[in-house]
Amino acid sequence: MSEVDRVIAQRLESGVPLVGDVARYIISAGGKRLRPVLLLLTCGALDDSHAQRHNLAAVVEFIHTATLLHDDVVDESTLRRGHPTANESFGNPASVLVGDFLYSRAFQMMVEVGSMRVMQVLSEATNVIAEGEVLQLMNMHDASLDEEGYLRVIRSKTAKLFEASARLGAILAGSDAVIEAACANYGQALGTAFQVIDDVLDYDGNANEMGKNLGDDLREGKSTLPLILAMQRGNAAQRQTVREAIESGSVEKLAEIVAIVRETGALDGTRDAATKEAQRAIDAALQLPDNPYREAMLTLASQLLNRRT
Ligand code: IPE
Ligand code: IPE
Ligand code: MG
Ligand code: MG
Repeated sequence: MSEVDRVIAQRLESGVPLVGDVARYIISAGGKRLRPVLLLLTCGALDDSHAQRHNLAAVVEFIHTATLLHDDVVDESTLRRGHPTANESFGNPASVLVGDFLYSRAFQMMVEVGSMRVMQVLSEATNVIAEGEVLQLMNMHDASLDEEGYLRVIRSKTAKLFEASARLGAILAGSDAVIEAACANYGQALGTAFQVIDDVLDYDGNANEMGKNLGDDLREGKSTLPLILAMQRGNAAQRQTVREAIESGSVEKLAEIVAIVRETGALDGTRDAATKEAQRAIDAALQLPDNPYREAMLTLASQLLNRRT
């Protein structure tokens, strides 16, 4: 991972000072670097030390960072990684354009790998993430969104890049189709569980630990699994309160909504959904050879449910 950070710092280079300023601002704030971790872990589990693995790990982190720059503009978020968002500090235009720079730098770097298969996986992932964000935009303020519609969004906007990262480890290792599919399934299930927990933490987390504000989803009128389950499980009055909040995007009743998602068991139900996805990730990882890398993949899946950051 320190080699990945070295590549990241080196490839942020640009002759245009604002590009480096904005990119370094968000990247040096940290982040968990989970997607590069996935790529290196799957590569390691398959006993591979491909020379391009650190470059590709940096590529997936660049794509992730580009999506965050754009996402925070779209979501009008003000806090990310414990600091004011780039849009808050530099404005929307700089955030959007530097996001474009990071996307295109990622594509320059993946061309250097010289593999059509790698480009296919990453171009598809990037395209599907964009679709997921647009689909979510269409679903804003829609209180009738069901669990299936919600899952479709998060598999696209979040799980797809986890899936691509884990799949790339297998591709670099020259794995057969069965192992490649196992890695992809692991990434997809892990990424889904990750976003489901993220959506729990928007109601039940701690802003200091998370480095982002709570209640952002409600403020946008974003219907996520805690709210979907609360409407299914609550009484008529509770259902009405949640419905109105989604439709108006008002956080005026945030405290009441938090109480409703707790009392109706919607938060526990959402955590159960994440547990199921994490189990699916574990089952997929068990198809890989038994070694310390696979062990780390299993630990990641089982501990994800306890994440607070
Ligand atoms: C944030 O992803 C966006 C979501 C998919 C919820 P991370 O939680 O991985 O963000 P960083 O990179 O660690 O800040
Ligand atoms: C994650 O969506 C953004 C992408 C995967 C592109 P969210 O909007 O739910 O993530 P946060 O809460 O801003 O990190
Ligand atoms: Mg967001
Ligand atoms: Mg969120």
